[in-house]
Amino acid sequence: MAQPAHEGDRFRVVGGAHLQGDVRVCGAKNSVLKLMAAALLAPGLTRLTNVPDIADVKIMAELLTRLGCKVELDIKKSEVSINVPEKPSHRAEYDLVRKMRASINVLGPLVARCGEAEVALPGGDAIGSRGLDYHIKGLMEMGAKVRNEHGYVIAKAENGLHGAEISLDFPSVGATENIMTAAVLAQGITILDNAAREPDVVDLGEFLISMGADIEGLGTPTITIRGVASLKPTIHATIPDRIVTGTWAFAAAITQGDIRIHGCRASDLEVPLEKLVSAGAVVTTTNDGVRVRMEHRPKAIDVSTLPYPGFPTDLQPFIITMNSIADGDAIVTENVFESRFIFVNELLRLGANVRVDGHHAATRGIDHLSSAPVVATDIRAGAGLIIAALVADGITMVEGGFHIDRGYPNFAEQLRSLGADVTRVE
Ligand code: UD1
Repeated sequence: MAQPAHEGDRFRVVGGAHLQGDVRVCGAKNSVLKLMAAALLAPGLTRLTNVPDIADVKIMAELLTRLGCKVELDIKKSEVSINVPEKPSHRAEYDLVRKMRASINVLGPLVARCGEAEVALPGGDAIGSRGLDYHIKGLMEMGAKVRNEHGYVIAKAENGLHGAEISLDFPSVGATENIMTAAVLAQGITILDNAAREPDVVDLGEFLISMGADIEGLGTPTITIRGVASLKPTIHATIPDRIVTGTWAFAAAITQGDIRIHGCRASDLEVPLEKLVSAGAVVTTTNDGVRVRMEHRPKAIDVSTLPYPGFPTDLQPFIITMNSIADGDAIVTENVFESRFIFVNELLRLGANVRVDGHHAATRGIDHLSSAPVVATDIRAGAGLIIAALVADGITMVEGGFHIDRGYPNFAEQLRSLGADVTRVE
């Protein structure tokens, strides 16, 4: 999200690494934030485990506190407890929403619980326009009156929400989640067509089911939700972060290394792992994760980003980084977020040969990159630049370290444990 850069908030990366060793994957950022928001649906104490130690969890905890919840975050145990009041307040302010788009996930639960919600519009994002029209249309179809006033989405359903047949134009993750969390307490049946199938959506659905919701079709394009009168608090373990898993998998391939990734699910990453095999990596599933090893220069591969189970847009910076030092030419097509190629401008500063034309980025692989000061523009771009810097000659300073903290706990420490020379310069 757009945030002021902090002077000196950098990663210092020494090039020439071959990452080797073991890493453990944390709980999924894009899951835990939605689970925390959905806790609002039931008064009482909900407990989440496998919670990652990332900045966004703290922001969501602050947002829930302002809505009247008592939130206890135990970083050592990777747990968060959320005690939700009988009557939460219903306004999510701009100062928090602007820091983290996932704040918009309180919209569905608040309308369902309070009959009204005022949530600040998250504003521009460095990866694209990211509208809310599907979220709003879905709530309106369930009987809410929604207007946009003074930078806030104001939704009211004085007589409660009712079930509806809703079809999304695009299988949006956020809209599927907001509609699902609103429909669980609506009167009657909601059928959501062209729903997102991401593992994060399935995790949220299973969490809601454990609270007493009646949901069928998770992981398929049609989700059926029968509204219930009330939900109860629950205990739930967040799924492993598939994007962090993918980051380590590509890091192994890019640095011609060998990483055993523990505590993850290879089944959530079938397409990216197949692409790594096409690039020449040896990928083996282990009893608690996956091992990725690359013994030679990777081969360049073509990729199109797509909604799950397609290749995730969040891994796009890593595939472009790999192609930029791979053997051959390749084209990456971005179908989800139009501005995600901003990252390429920074990669060019490291000497990569990439040409962007609309939704396509064409790379011509070169032997190695060359160090230069670069700027992280979002979480994944930041991690991508650090990994690119590992295969650049010399020392690269990556500015905008706070972006990386939003998605990767202790990234510098983890990289050091794999043999890289990376330090955080505050
Ligand atoms: C989530 C993830 C993000 C990931 C993305 C796709 C979080 C906090 N973020 O984002 O990391 O890259 O899923 O897997 O969970 N769109 C509209 N109108 C809408 C909603 C979406 O036009 O009302 C468009 C967006 O501009 C974008 C596309 O649909 O082009 C996908 O958006 P969506 O799946 O909603 O992504 P997010 O939930 O924002």
